[in-house]
Amino acid sequence: MPETLAGYEPAAAAVLPAAVRDFVAGGSGAELTLHRNRAALDAITVTPRILGAVDQPKTTTKLLRTPCALPLAVAPMAYQKLLHPEGELLLAAAAAAAGVPYVISTLSSTPLEKIAAAAPSWFQLYWLRDRNLVGALIDRATEAGCHALMVTVDVPIMGQRLRDVRNGFALPPEVIAANLVDKYTEAHKTPGTGSAIAAHTALAFDPAFSWRDLEWIRRRTDLPLVLKGILDPRDALTALDAGADGLVVSNHGGRQFDGAPAAIDALSSVIDAVGNEMTVLLDSGIRSGADIVKALARGAHGVLVGRPLLWALALGVPADALTTLGRELRDAMLLAGCADLTAVADLITGRD
Ligand code: FNR
Repeated sequence: MPETLAGYEPAAAAVLPAAVRDFVAGGSGAELTLHRNRAALDAITVTPRILGAVDQPKTTTKLLRTPCALPLAVAPMAYQKLLHPEGELLLAAAAAAAGVPYVISTLSSTPLEKIAAAAPSWFQLYWLRDRNLVGALIDRATEAGCHALMVTVDVPIMGQRLRDVRNGFALPPEVIAANLVDKYTEAHKTPGTGSAIAAHTALAFDPAFSWRDLEWIRRRTDLPLVLKGILDPRDALTALDAGADGLVVSNHGGRQFDGAPAAIDALSSVIDAVGNEMTVLLDSGIRSGADIVKALARGAHGVLVGRPLLWALALGVPADALTTLGRELRDAMLLAGCADLTAVADLITGRD
């Protein structure tokens, strides 16, 4: 078993088909933003405190009213049956065991109701051309007991993932977008030229998503509302005005605009704008407990973890990966002299 969270990637890469590995690992364009996420996190320093008599660091918190044993949630990620036959249900069970929320993707390959029954969940929403379908998804997520609605705002179109284009990537017959059986479903399956996933997105997603549409969503649900994919503090302020409760500062793990800043570099200005009034989460490149300490020391209230958990799912052991990450976080807190997450938020950060 890998001894670090980051170690699951090479272990899984050895067992996965190349096209699936590329679909998970890849970014858009020349993958500049993908690499920038890691380079920026690596460059951050955190200055430890000493002699604080810390024995058992306390990692518990609340994110969007959901109690969390660790300051994180499992990022929404599509089509998890590509990685393991049990797909979403295995990763959601691991999240439940670890005491962290699982974010169900609009594009989950298991119906959202089944996942929500397996773990405390939030639901991630994409803005689709079919407004009735969007409304139905919000209603289904609410009825299934999801605790928050996370609206992804950085996918008007899919960033061009060249690895998928070159692989002619299409979903195998047994993997479907289980929540969206609609007239576009077949597009996923048709290996033509390029990526069938991108072809499906182009048909089903509405690129003209606007703040007015967001108001419609806000009126439609009482669930805590989170916008995922914010990088500019002006958008953060507009989101606050529009009644959003939280944000995910994110560049979609380097999969959307190739040229966007590292998410961790965009965090401070968003925190300065809205950090006292909204729950601000960060994703894109989190690979260790020390990375979580860096994000929280820079003002995030929690993080989303993406690809490392898919690599662990591919190996059938996502619960082990979350246990490893929890241990890494507690070790990092001990080494930095932090008894709890408030002390982490108070650490001084710098840059190489
Ligand atoms: C994603 N991501 C994503 N985001 C979203 O809002 N809805 C989705 O369906 C998906 N699907 C998806 C599939 C795969 C294979 C990946 C790798 C990512 C983006 C995801 O939620 C998150 O923003 C990034 O993965 C975070 O970066 P790291 O932790 O993977 O570096």
